[in-house]
Amino acid sequence: MSDLEALKKEAAVRAVALVQSGQRVGLGTGSTAKYAIEELGRKLAAGELSGIVGVSTSEASEALARELGIPTESLDPRPLDLAIDGADEIAPNLDLIKGLGGALVREKVTEVQARRLIIIADHTKLVTRLGEKAPLPVEILRFGFLSTIERLREFLPGGRLRQPGAQPYVTDNGNYIYDAGLPADFDPRELERRIKGTLGVVDTGFFLGMAERAFVAAPDGVRELIR
Ligand code: A5P
Repeated sequence: MSDLEALKKEAAVRAVALVQSGQRVGLGTGSTAKYAIEELGRKLAAGELSGIVGVSTSEASEALARELGIPTESLDPRPLDLAIDGADEIAPNLDLIKGLGGALVREKVTEVQARRLIIIADHTKLVTRLGEKAPLPVEILRFGFLSTIERLREFLPGGRLRQPGAQPYVTDNGNYIYDAGLPADFDPRELERRIKGTLGVVDTGFFLGMAERAFVAAPDGVRELIR
């Protein structure tokens, strides 16, 4: 395991220590969230936790949870006790960009119902302002996607349709993603409103005011950041 992977795992283990028996837990998506699901599975198998129910934010996390014997349920209107997920960028106030892994909409729909959203990451995800390193993923309907992109480009010109190969990337919801470059200076809440008001947009990777805390692992230890 590389040093960075070891750090991601360390952050995940710290977050899973917050989970108590009998809780309904939102299962995030991505390479860091994977370590949290594995740790949850380990604790269940070892009898260190019992009665946990996972609610998955992607098909991939659902498959992993099943493989590890973690009971899962689909999302219903009941609140989740807590959700654990990674992030692509973490601002000092714990506003986030998520969705480079493509699961932003299911993550947001699930995590908005969590009493506590706990973020896990390695130190490379810390930024002083959102958009510093990562683009903003925007999930858009496949139908009329070129028109939606044109509307988005009117105020977010530096972006592109996510297309890793010959075909565009398709989300678990059957949609496409526009990865928008962000301007140097902007108000995330105002931009979020504007993007979501654009016809054809499903949602954005901005997670604003949602995270309660973050465990951020660096070579000199794990920092716990609280909003
Ligand atoms: C998935 O859509 C994303 O929101 C991920 O949670 C985020 O990209 C972090 O992924 P990594 O832990 O793999 O960097």
